Amino acid sequence: MANQDDNLLKKIVAHAKEYGFVFPSSEIYDGLGAAYDYGQYGSELKNNIKNFWWKAMVQMHENIVGIDAAIFMHPTTWKASGHVDAFNDPLIDNKDSKKRYRADVLIEEYIAKIEGKIKKEVQKAAKRFGDSFDETQFLATNGRVIEYNAQIKSINDRMKSAMETEQLNELKTLIEDLGIACPVSGSKNWTEVRQFNLMFSTELGSLAEGANTIYLRPETAQGIFVNFLNVQKTGRMKIPFGIAQIGKAFRNEIIARQFIFRMREFEQMEMQFFVKPGEEMKWYDHWKEKRIQWHKILGLGEDNYRFHDHLNLAHYANAACDIEFNFPMGFKELEGIHSRTDFDLKAHEEHSGKKLQFFDPQENQNYVPYVIETSIGLDRMFLAIMSASYKNETLEDGSERVVLKIPPALAPVKVAVLPLVKKDGLSEKAREILETLKFHFNCQYDEKDAIGRRYRRQDAIGTPYCVTIDHDTLQDHSVTLRDRDTTKQERIPISELTNRIEGLVSINTLLQKL
Ligand code: GAP
Repeated sequence: MANQDDNLLKKIVAHAKEYGFVFPSSEIYDGLGAAYDYGQYGSELKNNIKNFWWKAMVQMHENIVGIDAAIFMHPTTWKASGHVDAFNDPLIDNKDSKKRYRADVLIEEYIAKIEGKIKKEVQKAAKRFGDSFDETQFLATNGRVIEYNAQIKSINDRMKSAMETEQLNELKTLIEDLGIACPVSGSKNWTEVRQFNLMFSTELGSLAEGANTIYLRPETAQGIFVNFLNVQKTGRMKIPFGIAQIGKAFRNEIIARQFIFRMREFEQMEMQFFVKPGEEMKWYDHWKEKRIQWHKILGLGEDNYRFHDHLNLAHYANAACDIEFNFPMGFKELEGIHSRTDFDLKAHEEHSGKKLQFFDPQENQNYVPYVIETSIGLDRMFLAIMSASYKNETLEDGSERVVLKIPPALAPVKVAVLPLVKKDGLSEKAREILETLKFHFNCQYDEKDAIGRRYRRQDAIGTPYCVTIDHDTLQDHSVTLRDRDTTKQERIPISELTNRIEGLVSINTLLQKL
């Protein structure tokens, strides 16, 4: 069942700001739409996610290597990839409110309202029938639900057909037929629907020199395609092999919202896997399996993921699906897995005049490899982790806490070192312990306020372990190790601390499960 918890999203946004995870960009100037800055804990979490992805994809695979291509690319790149001509969203303005919308999103929101009605019917019936309620049977037989589903199908069919055939006037007619009003002005006074290219452009060089218009890359993948031959030759790579990359991408989204879910500047973690033509479906299934496994070993809840197969494929794809995550706004795309055929390499061959082929010694022939792509948004992964980790709990003693149950291997701070009191030499002993631990883990030292309040502060930033130094420590050379999730405390010798924590927070424990 989808999450649809607006309150949870609001709580996460507020918590992320209050505790140094994510700030609105240039906030002192009232922020900038859909741009965010990652704070002291947010950037640590982001780095840990990147590290986990990079190690899982590159370090764990002999036949995958990583690159870091420039954001600026030759403008012909985007002609070849199809982004100049076809990377568009249909936009529509309301003449009264002057607000701009994506026409397809207005229609999708209308559909979501009908889905909401179906959900209400289900809830009402579940209440009425109690334990004997059979949801599947109800959905298949209830007259109202059948009618709602038929409405959804008819709207979807009209929208898809209009989008595929680029009949923008049809999209407007559909908006009018459905009586969709502007959420701000309530008016139905719409402009025509127009195509809007999502790429940001800028000028390279000074105007005096005759500057060139170039684009900020809307996906990192093209940096991999144009380097296919460089990497294949210098790395002596044999098909099948992959090239991975993490980096910024930019899209001038018409409506960017839902916090860091849809931004204009975001980060992608992409891998292009080059395979022999004809073997692409085998590898497509392989990477679907591998990628869902990567997600599931994080322990954010197996039910929070589902695959969504694309029914309408992009012109270059022969199979595509999304891994969707149960965000507070419901199930939404977190990662895409696409079988991109030889479209990109062939297009770059045509536009550059350079051969982008592989000589297969077994086949004794050259061919343009096919490509399976895995593409995940780092910011969306960040939001997925925050959404699944944020918990409001009442403890055994009746006290309340907000805790981020971030997978320990990804937590921004791994260990907090806390002297019970500042006096009697406990601070000095705690600092001595910190001096050892800091070479292994990102640690925090805190001696201010009562110990309970310090635990709460660490819970709020998701620190999985707290080491507490008390008076006994000076005699028995032991400390207490407190577990964030269970709040249980255990006494252990200082000499065992590093190994013990290593086993609990190391990224290797995750990688070994892959
Ligand atoms: N190279 C393929 C590609 O870019 P995509 O489905 O457009 O495919 C891949 O994007 C992933 O990038 C998405 O699954 C999503 O996680 C992330 N993404 C796309 N647009 C985004 C945006 N505006 N803000 C944040 N993440 C975004």
